[in-house]
Amino acid sequence: MPDLRSLIDQKHWLIGDQVFAQDIYQRELETVFGRCWLFVGHDSMVPKPHDYFTHFMGETGVIVQRDGAGRIRGYLNKCRHRGNIVCPYDRGNAKNFSCAYHGWVYSDGKLIGVPHSDEAYAGGINFDEWGLVEIPKLQSWGGLIFGCWDPDAISLDDYLGDARWYLEHFLLREKLGGLEVIPGVQRYMVPTNWKIVSENLAGDHYHFMVTHGGFVEALRKSEDKRIALTGVSTGGRFHAFSVALNHDHGVPHGIFQLRSGSGQLETDLTAAEELGPEAVAWVHERQRVLEEELKDFKHKPYSFQGGNIFPNLGLTGVGSALYGKAFMLHHPRGADRTEVWTWCAVEKNAPAAVKERARFVLMQRFAATGMVVSDDSAIFERIAENLNTPPSRQWPMHYAMAMAQEGEDPRPAALAGEPQRWPGLLTQTFQETAQRDFYRYWSELMNTNPAPAN
Ligand code: FES
Ligand code: FE
Repeated sequence: MPDLRSLIDQKHWLIGDQVFAQDIYQRELETVFGRCWLFVGHDSMVPKPHDYFTHFMGETGVIVQRDGAGRIRGYLNKCRHRGNIVCPYDRGNAKNFSCAYHGWVYSDGKLIGVPHSDEAYAGGINFDEWGLVEIPKLQSWGGLIFGCWDPDAISLDDYLGDARWYLEHFLLREKLGGLEVIPGVQRYMVPTNWKIVSENLAGDHYHFMVTHGGFVEALRKSEDKRIALTGVSTGGRFHAFSVALNHDHGVPHGIFQLRSGSGQLETDLTAAEELGPEAVAWVHERQRVLEEELKDFKHKPYSFQGGNIFPNLGLTGVGSALYGKAFMLHHPRGADRTEVWTWCAVEKNAPAAVKERARFVLMQRFAATGMVVSDDSAIFERIAENLNTPPSRQWPMHYAMAMAQEGEDPRPAALAGEPQRWPGLLTQTFQETAQRDFYRYWSELMNTNPAPAN
């Protein structure tokens, strides 16, 4: 493996192509995906005992299931006999999983059946020792389920750190009833490295008006009010920032377009009026609860548009009451392949018309053929194709945007005098602080010993 110190110049913030190369990839499956807390789903996907869904942690197939006692648990999706996939389905309800090769049967993780066991093993197999391998750490936080293969990992609370405050107030909305995830998941493959996608979501607001310029123009010209009224223009009545979460003291998550000001509420109300008085009343109630939650802040950060929870959970749609919230998981599938899984969540107590609008708006942008992600995917594919030729490797890439301004409060004079800090390191909108933090932490993980379990 190449010396990572020569690939990431942390003084000038230059990064070499090989960070995205094949010879790095296997190690990061162990050191990154084998040690970090990884998003594996939402409580609402398994409401009843024995409901399950299958999933991946890195490239590792897992089953997440609510057991007979009501506890959510996770298992390696691997038969202990010869390694066959125990559960080949996406989701369902099953008390037992029966392996399709020789028929070993598991229930709530325990091995409970071995065909012809007396004859084949003469009583020589200890069922208690050959249950499914359980993910050592699995925890639901605000309905979001995370798993971790490293038994010695820091707590999920510490892992999320600053991110908890933003997730609680702007994403989960538990005081308004929380989220429900719409059944089904969009899946598509992007021929690129997972980090190219994840670093984008950690804070690359810089690309938006260029990469998505055609989309913005289409919104402006659309005569379909479902589209035009959920556009990105809010008349400039907000200030927007990026935030590097856990900057210099923990696991680096990033959010972009943290918005302060009345612009988003005005845009949401205009769109809600089209849906009727129930939608308008709900948008007002949502805002009332948020005002109460943020009452100690002189200037209130009302929402954020999107972000990345390290390593590979992307979020978007958090900035608007009428926008579905996407959980976008960027599964690694090789150095040059990323499988995107996108779920759409809506606010559980929203009126039906709002839920339907939220689903429509999100899918219009973030479904596999959505107007936003298809722009991004084309660029990400070109980048991956373009890297790692011998001449290209000699010329590292530039990650040094806004280094000089890092640590300065980017808020304009109109927002000065805030007595209470907004969690995380607030930065100007166009920055690469969160991306630098992403690679700083990534290289720390890569330079230490892999976890044994993955
Ligand atoms: Fe599952 Fe043999 S591989 S029973
Ligand atoms: Fe984009």
